Amino acid sequence: MSYLPIQQILKTAQIGTDVTVKGWVRTKRESKNAVFIALNDGSTINNIQAVAETGQLPEETLKLITTGACLAITGKLVESQGAGQSVEVKISTVTIYGPADPDKYPLQPKRHSLEFLREIAHLRPRTNTFSAILRIRHALAFAVHKYFNDNGFFYLNTPIITASDAEGAGEMFRVTTLDATKPPLTEEGKVDYSQDFFGRETNLTVSGQLEGELGAMALGKVYTFGPTFRAENSNTTRHLAEFWMIEPEVAFYELEDNMNLAEDFVKTIIRYALQHCADDLAFLDNRLKDEEKTKRKEEQSELGLLEKLQFVISNEFVRLTYTDAIDILVNSKAAKKGQFQYEVSWGVDLQSEHERYLVEKHFKKPVILTNYPRDIKAFYMKQDEDRPTDRGKTVRAMDVLFPGIGEIIGGSQREDDFDKLTARMHEVGIEQEALWWYLDTRRFGSAPHSGFGLGFERLVLFVTGMGNIRDVIPFPRAPKTAEF
Ligand code: 4AD
Ligand code: MG
Repeated sequence: MSYLPIQQILKTAQIGTDVTVKGWVRTKRESKNAVFIALNDGSTINNIQAVAETGQLPEETLKLITTGACLAITGKLVESQGAGQSVEVKISTVTIYGPADPDKYPLQPKRHSLEFLREIAHLRPRTNTFSAILRIRHALAFAVHKYFNDNGFFYLNTPIITASDAEGAGEMFRVTTLDATKPPLTEEGKVDYSQDFFGRETNLTVSGQLEGELGAMALGKVYTFGPTFRAENSNTTRHLAEFWMIEPEVAFYELEDNMNLAEDFVKTIIRYALQHCADDLAFLDNRLKDEEKTKRKEEQSELGLLEKLQFVISNEFVRLTYTDAIDILVNSKAAKKGQFQYEVSWGVDLQSEHERYLVEKHFKKPVILTNYPRDIKAFYMKQDEDRPTDRGKTVRAMDVLFPGIGEIIGGSQREDDFDKLTARMHEVGIEQEALWWYLDTRRFGSAPHSGFGLGFERLVLFVTGMGNIRDVIPFPRAPKTAEF
């Protein structure tokens, strides 16, 4: 008899046949006549129940069947008499693979706090909540590749170790083979990077965009999907030091096409999760409803998780310029009552409190903000012709803002004019020599093109309804956390 995961047994096995189930004990319950074991193997949120008659299992075996122990159970699949499951296994044999000492095993059959589970991140995938999140994360990643493949994009792998700072924000982790305590020095007393592995200063990539642009200028439609690293010391529920970014880049797309792509892309991915992760999403929806009950009435959210996801895929995103958004914010009740921690005026970078005000209070829909001031955006964004309605120079940027999250996507049309791009680089202090290869795309056969970056964990955060980004990646990297 071949072994099948529990998900498949529950779906396909015939009543009356012998099955073998393998997994970790979630609970053991003893009644007068029987012992009930709930087993889970991570393939589904649903446990399989196995039942033995009282006295059937040797006492020493029974003692080892505790929460967390790993077992193989063989028996007949029968219809269940109990509530909560339609089938169960009538046990004939039990093999203990690995016991879990109940006095030491940290996961017990009760709801542990997320803070506690973060401290035992190596074991938390064995909980219902985290296994559901990780399965949904997998489905979303698969849906990303499927979307791009279905739409004629090519997957481009961009370097992890790089000599450039794509965002020009200086938030990089250095990669070096030099001894940090006594690096070789040049005659002027500076670190001599010519002796470093790559012969120059290198870092972990903050974004694959610049190389993505090289790909778009050759293959037309490309996307990256890989780890990116930011050494910003942001200890928030929205930032990680290591996160996964999805970056499509498309030749001949202007800002409008870029917005259409972003909206269709996120909606399609979320729709995929709703179709393929129904059990896990229903579990997280219920979990969230329980959590909501503990909040004060005015803080409870109006929509449940599933309703929120349905809402996002069935409504058009609002599109407006940064300038119009500033007018809304400046004239908002929140600003007048002094409820914003950070002041808003034309030219400031929006804080997540402002983004969330627009999305959650004003429009009550996802929003795409465009045409930001040039001075708060990266050097590569295409400069707008002077727009009399704006109050200064703007660029063809777009940020997609989501309820509960704030910025989920950042992107733009790219500056394709060599002279304008190099003039801008000069203004912000980026040497042409450092990006000579990037500038070659503007020297030879330049073309309009656009792209964006979606923070994968922010998407997983939204789809799972979780509140902290450290809970939607298996091994979070944030300031002062690196046990593994
Ligand atoms: O807005 P960002 O910095 O844009 C870029 O890196 C562009 N090169 C993207 C492009 O146009 N190809 O980052 C893009 C997205 C953000 O909208 C956010 O979702 C996510 O990446 N992000 C982070 N996610 C988690 N932790 C962090 N520290 C993040 N920083 C950005
Ligand atoms: Mg951004």
